[in-house]
Amino acid sequence: MAGPVHPSNVFLIGPMGAGKTTVGSLLAKAMGREFFDSDAVLQERTGVTVSEIFEREGEQGFRRREREVIAELVQQKNIVLATGGGAVLDADNRRLLASRGTVIYLRVPLDAQLRHLRADRTRPLLQDGDPEEILKRLSSEREPLYRELCDYQVNMDGLTVRTACENIVEWLDQTPGLS
Ligand code: S3P
Repeated sequence: MAGPVHPSNVFLIGPMGAGKTTVGSLLAKAMGREFFDSDAVLQERTGVTVSEIFEREGEQGFRRREREVIAELVQQKNIVLATGGGAVLDADNRRLLASRGTVIYLRVPLDAQLRHLRADRTRPLLQDGDPEEILKRLSSEREPLYRELCDYQVNMDGLTVRTACENIVEWLDQTPGLS
């Protein structure tokens, strides 16, 4: 998506199980920047888990809180931020992410996503129904948004966290105005 890019912030988007948190924290280390994960910040602030927020306030309540946290975090400079898989559903989030930093989309094939999330109990959206069907549905709704919003995509298929991180650093270094 075209628009003013804040060179110093790096935002990771993509679905659950793509590795945003692990890649993001290694990337931040490699770049000497501070790392944030919007879900972790939300959990610290509220003192409860994402699942509990969903239980008490529904997805709508979670999205409202997620929007507030993202709006605040993107005001910083020199950060790496991993966002939750559904953050791109919100138009304000998309606008802020596009205007306040460089957006990197971590793509992951469905089978790898399922492997990573098979035993997961922390993602409320996956607890009710067949994870494969749910992930496919979420992907059909969100994939176009990830693609449109990102400045760069990394296909995580077969990549280690380290290689993915090196790939991103190399792209940032090569891209004029982003280093
Ligand atoms: C969600 C993804 C989760 C978390 C919440 C909702 C989603 O984050 O924000 O469970 O809607 O895809 P991760 O993408 O970090 O798993």
